[in-house]
Amino acid sequence: MKLKHSLLVAGIVAALSQTVAANDNLAGLHADMLGCDACHSASMQPQDDNLSIENGNCADCHGDIHEVAELTASAHVNVHASHFPGEPACTSCHQAHQPSVNYCDACHSFDFDLPFAGKWQRHEPSIAELAKEQADRSAALALAPRATTDIVVVGSGGAGFSAAVAAHDAGAKVILIEKEPVIGGNAKLAAGGMNAAESASQAALGIKDDVEIMIKDTMKGGYDKNDPALVDVLAQNSAGSVAWLTAMGADLKDVGRMGGASVNRSHRPTGGAGVGAHVVQVLLDNAVERNIDMRLNTRAVEILKDDNGAVRGLLVKGAHTGYYWISAKSVILATGGFAKNNDRVAALDPKLKGFMATNHPGATGDGLDVAANADAAMRDLQYIQAHPTHSVKGGVMITEAVRGNGAILVNREGQRFVNEITTRDRAAAAILQQSQGSAFLVFDHAVRKSLKKIEGYVELGIVPVADDLVALGAKAGIDGAALSQTINSYNGYVAEGKDAQFERQNLPRPLTQGPFYALEVTPAVHHTMGGIAIDASTAVQGTDGKAIAGLYAAGEVTGGVHGANRLGGNAISDIVTFGRVAGEQAAKYIGK
Ligand code: FAD
Ligand code: SIN
Repeated sequence: MKLKHSLLVAGIVAALSQTVAANDNLAGLHADMLGCDACHSASMQPQDDNLSIENGNCADCHGDIHEVAELTASAHVNVHASHFPGEPACTSCHQAHQPSVNYCDACHSFDFDLPFAGKWQRHEPSIAELAKEQADRSAALALAPRATTDIVVVGSGGAGFSAAVAAHDAGAKVILIEKEPVIGGNAKLAAGGMNAAESASQAALGIKDDVEIMIKDTMKGGYDKNDPALVDVLAQNSAGSVAWLTAMGADLKDVGRMGGASVNRSHRPTGGAGVGAHVVQVLLDNAVERNIDMRLNTRAVEILKDDNGAVRGLLVKGAHTGYYWISAKSVILATGGFAKNNDRVAALDPKLKGFMATNHPGATGDGLDVAANADAAMRDLQYIQAHPTHSVKGGVMITEAVRGNGAILVNREGQRFVNEITTRDRAAAAILQQSQGSAFLVFDHAVRKSLKKIEGYVELGIVPVADDLVALGAKAGIDGAALSQTINSYNGYVAEGKDAQFERQNLPRPLTQGPFYALEVTPAVHHTMGGIAIDASTAVQGTDGKAIAGLYAAGEVTGGVHGANRLGGNAISDIVTFGRVAGEQAAKYIGK
């Protein structure tokens, strides 16, 4: 079985393309050459939903994803060197008995071909549709639990991982489940930063901030619809959460500005790399170190309660092993938001019907249905946010940090039309009012160098570039002469330290160093502020106004932290802080 890579590069990869074309799948090729046991165990049945044996066999022959990435490095876009944390399993894309797909296509729409590119598509039955599989579910519930633990954490985003690590460290036995084949949810995509006030990183950079100012900014940004008790927990613990992550190995030393913040408080890795993939990687490493049982391709479908209404476990559906139940005294729901589910979004806010979304495919709102079926109360579901800057080409969310580091927004007429670092609801509304409902992020080489994240956008080929502004206008479809004038005026405001046009508060640098860049952007559904009602200890509130014993929730699946509009950078802070609280509280509930 140990064929190893070089052999594969020349021979098998070429054979693969031909045989894949002929067979439409990889299973045929492997069976012909090596027999079914090249991939499967003797029983021919998956032993677990991670497909540990099958994926282990892939890696034995082909190398792990990093080794495979070296082999595919010459491709126009090296999909094996993606931004995903951890080591995504081969079967996330190569499903063997069906054509391979590009999981990347779940979010992006690039106009270049990727190898083995079956079109990514999915019909995921809703929680309500799954309820019709009554016979299978009853059969599973009639059996003994397939696993027994203290706490089940649902969701492998930042909230879920933080809860799992915190609960483990408080002495509890934890199983973490995730319905997707890859970990990290929306958290792994987070770009611009994690907000915290009075942190060590701010102090090192001489930034003066105050927890009270973070509270004020958050309440103002949320139009005072937030639950003040939850905002208090968010802000008071924000620096502690940065310190908690730092102690586990995170680098959150770079601090920049995001929309709606009075001071620089968005923490990110040195040089401005995306915060989410880094934070998830750190949490994953810590979960692995602690030997936490992690089950991918495993979907939570029903919370099980005892006769007193307290949690006694969770019914799950494994993508490969079917229904089974886990016995547990406590469940923590950390299933994220529902921005990727446009039917649900449009039912709550019809003006967002048909909008693209910045989110990962698992952000469908399962957790809301699972919680509602367990009699949980909901709040603020109507508050749904669009991110102002989603690239028209490629479908990539362009982080607010690009504006925070100095980019301006102009329309086709070459004019600025908004304070670029206002709250994102205002920026999004202003962009939609411009001709063709889109605008351009314009920046210079100094802005590009200030933020590592921008390198990724340039590498993807979605950013028109030119040596001067008139040429840039011609390339991007902007009035170049007007653009030159606009930039001249803007540079004047930077020199004076006052934006006479839109009162933009941060003016970090003039736009003077060519080459110049213009990236077309339009709003896309980004964050769902409402969700499960919790108290400050993350206990889920029932429709009867009482806490549901043993049920906790944290992160984007909950409502109340962000009110009617979330500030950029506040979600990562939310999920780490409330995830930690949920883990600690659930452990306390079970007597640890
Ligand atoms: P998620 O990270 O979404 O994780 C939830 C997980 O639960 C998912 O993996 C999902 O598949 C899984 N799940 C769902 N249902 C089930 C089920 N039934 N069974 C099992 N598993 C299930 N915020 C910031 O503060 N700063 C940023 O810079 C930032 N940038 C962002 C960039 C992008 C492109 C996006 C989309 C969001 C960004 N956000 C940012 C917002 C932030 O990333 C999210 O709000 C946050 O990550 C949500 O974390 P979570 O743990 O609650 O949910
Ligand atoms: C971004 O980086 O622009 C997104 C930040 C956020 O959603 O908080």
